[in-house]
Amino acid sequence: MYIEFRRQPMKNTQDFIQANHDRFLAELLEFLRLPSISADPAYATSVRQTAEWVAESLRKVGADHVRLEETAGFPIVYGEKMIDPAAPTVLVYGHYDVQPADPLHLWDNPPFEPIIKDGKIFARGACDDKGQVFMHIKAFEAMHASGELTCNVKFMIEGEEEVGSDNLGLFVSSNRALLAADVILISDTAIIANDTPSIDVGLRGLSYMEVSVQGPNRDLHSGVYGGAVANPINILCQMIASLHDEFNRITIPGFYDGVLDLSAADRAAMGQTPFDLDAYQKDLGIQTVYGEKGYSSIERASIRPTLDVNGIWGGYTGEGAKTVLPSMAHAKISMRLVPNQRSEEITQLFTKHFLSIAPKGVKVTVKAHHGGEAYLMPTDSIAFQAASDALATTFGKDPVPTRGGGSIPIVALFEKELGIKSILMGFGLDTDAIHSPNEHYGLFNFYKGIETIPHFFANLAKLSN
Ligand code: BES
Ligand code: MN
Ligand code: MN
Repeated sequence: MYIEFRRQPMKNTQDFIQANHDRFLAELLEFLRLPSISADPAYATSVRQTAEWVAESLRKVGADHVRLEETAGFPIVYGEKMIDPAAPTVLVYGHYDVQPADPLHLWDNPPFEPIIKDGKIFARGACDDKGQVFMHIKAFEAMHASGELTCNVKFMIEGEEEVGSDNLGLFVSSNRALLAADVILISDTAIIANDTPSIDVGLRGLSYMEVSVQGPNRDLHSGVYGGAVANPINILCQMIASLHDEFNRITIPGFYDGVLDLSAADRAAMGQTPFDLDAYQKDLGIQTVYGEKGYSSIERASIRPTLDVNGIWGGYTGEGAKTVLPSMAHAKISMRLVPNQRSEEITQLFTKHFLSIAPKGVKVTVKAHHGGEAYLMPTDSIAFQAASDALATTFGKDPVPTRGGGSIPIVALFEKELGIKSILMGFGLDTDAIHSPNEHYGLFNFYKGIETIPHFFANLAKLSN
């Protein structure tokens, strides 16, 4: 059967995709109009509606047993198509929730009124992850409608990825049989460029903290008391600044203890990854890059752990000037982790260290938000081969293995709880502005994804024989 695909690769499926281009896009725009912001309770009804919408879209294209699996938070959409117990089973994971859209005034177009401009779809979630989830639903539709589905497929589309997937772990550990599969396929990452396909073979872990510094028991006149009382914002800034040394290394004792260093050969291979420094700087409007001494930009953003302030507040931030010495200062701090660092341990090391550097005269508190483990995937598996060959077929070029800087904590959990490895076959670009204003997804990428996924299925079936 595969020989036939090779000669005329999945002709019916690919024809079906070409014939339904416009409808696929129109449906995606409908998906993008639903404001499924999981972080903001004001959108709770919309998030649920979005789950219903995803379930309905799976039912419409022929998935069986489609349902919402309730959790303590937002529901997980499940659906499946079992064609043959002897065929391999692919579990497709993705998320229908999106990040908040603020700051709204920086969007050229409202975030939940998608538009097409310069060959790109602009909307919150266009790339992360609705556009990429929808590629799977449409690829499945095409394979099923053409009678060319070669694997069993299960869908698990969650609604809490952007807030840490707190309830997915329990669902996974209590549904091992339901979720049994040979491989998990995820499109929630990026490729290097539209003419340079790549596969993420790793993700970073995460420890997310919130810190507060309490000074005087109330806001004070900054003239009457200034200079004589510890200013919590001044103190917080000093404490945060001390978390990096002059080489931009993190100063928390023990922080690097577990870090898995790459071999010289692996680093040399990584050095071969195409990277256009000029384009990178231009895209971001920066004069020069920055980071830990001794590492390239690619390494800094993938194989090295980091510590970044994500938000900082306190005192007066309104119009004009108010002379005030604040009572409180706060910051949210994320640490991206690499293989062998354990999120829980790093959270403890951070907490202990941050409390230990608090000067007298202020009270410091540290709170842990979500965390997750890094992931490293083997490249010698059948599934990796299937993905690699699929991308080679549709891009006309072998994909480059890369390490992603972002986190999908549930990937490490899937392996731990289900014993199943994941393939990160994403189609976004780093410049798609995910989590930022004017998030977008290229039409090229959307359609390329839909065309590539069926090849993955065909390759996997063939290689599993
Ligand atoms: N899709 C991203 C993760 C990602 C993006 C991985 C690009 C690799 C390349 C995902 O939706 C995400 O944003 N994850 C969060 C973590 C979560 C715990 C909030 C992240 O990385 O900040
Ligand atoms: Mn995502
Ligand atoms: Mn995201």
